[in-house]
Amino acid sequence: MTIRAVVRGVGHYLPERVVENAEFEKTLDTTDEWIRTRTGIERRHFAAEGETTSQLAIKAAQAALADAGLTPDDIDAIVVATSTPDFTFPSVATMVQAGLGMTSGFAYDVQAVCAGFVFALTNANGMILSGQANRVLVIGAETFSRIMDWTDRGTCVLFGDGAGALVVEGVDAAGTPQDRGILAVDLHSDGRFRDLLYVDGGVSSNGVAGHLRMQGNAVFKHAVQKLAETAHAALEKAGLGPEDVTWIVPHQANLRIITGTAGRMGVPMERVIVTVQDHGNTSAASIPLALSVGKARGQLKQGDLVVTEAIGGGLAWGSVVLRW
Ligand code: COA
Repeated sequence: MTIRAVVRGVGHYLPERVVENAEFEKTLDTTDEWIRTRTGIERRHFAAEGETTSQLAIKAAQAALADAGLTPDDIDAIVVATSTPDFTFPSVATMVQAGLGMTSGFAYDVQAVCAGFVFALTNANGMILSGQANRVLVIGAETFSRIMDWTDRGTCVLFGDGAGALVVEGVDAAGTPQDRGILAVDLHSDGRFRDLLYVDGGVSSNGVAGHLRMQGNAVFKHAVQKLAETAHAALEKAGLGPEDVTWIVPHQANLRIITGTAGRMGVPMERVIVTVQDHGNTSAASIPLALSVGKARGQLKQGDLVVTEAIGGGLAWGSVVLRW
């Protein structure tokens, strides 16, 4: 017997404003055709003026709680993955806690940029397995539109805002790869690659929020290789292989990265959940958003074997294998 962290509910929220690729043609030397063919992105959502990351997170959390049939009082801990918090502190997670009307438990943020949700989910799994918490709300929420340089066509067309949330719960299980819940995790980072993807501002450096900077081509090459490796490693730890995968639910940064990674893993694209065309890259929010949309589309079903994988600034990357 063992305990597994099982997904009990999932939900998401996207800001109302949808921006089609063509809108960038008005202000930048770019085209809908270029963005579509190089990235697979067709549109993204941007938060309204004054709409914050915690507000998106609260709405996603409420949707996940409703899906789980639970109330905020049933939750022991909240972990929010974000790189775009409302304030330097307090954490977005404690703002979500207050917003949900929850006066017990504990809440904190995790920062691993686009890999943040994989790290947060791993963290929640560890808390559940160690008995520190039994029901954890794991949220990815971002407003990357706030850190875009709108004159840099190589980055500002790629990102979007949004939030997704899971309720994970400790459940007794047999301890086999057939169990529902998180079966294996695999995390990595390598700080030597800092300059490939970073924000040129921060509290203790220059005191401003800063703008995202990226060497797109170099990130692309690291992404395909490292994502396939970490997904393989996590599957191996779970005692499973690519042939067992029902769905890859990848970080949604670029369709070419998603296709390249699936190709290296030997998993056909019919078994990959893709939302990048509608959301752009929502950083830590992209995987829970894709899980929520995948469930709403009827793709994800109980018992399906799901592999999530993500990479982002740091570089930091990793994978979680779970049975839905
Ligand atoms: N519209 C038109 N042209 C653009 C453009 C845009 N929005 N953005 C870049 N270009 C231009 C470049 O300036 C370059 O022009 P040049 O040859 O005259 O210098 C040309 O397109 C090719 O640039 P390159 O960077 O080699 O293109 P690419 O095929 O690598 O595609 C990215 C660029 C950013 C789409 C791609 O590198 C990428 O997606 N990388 C990964 C980024 C990512 O997902 N990061 C997040 C990970 S979490």
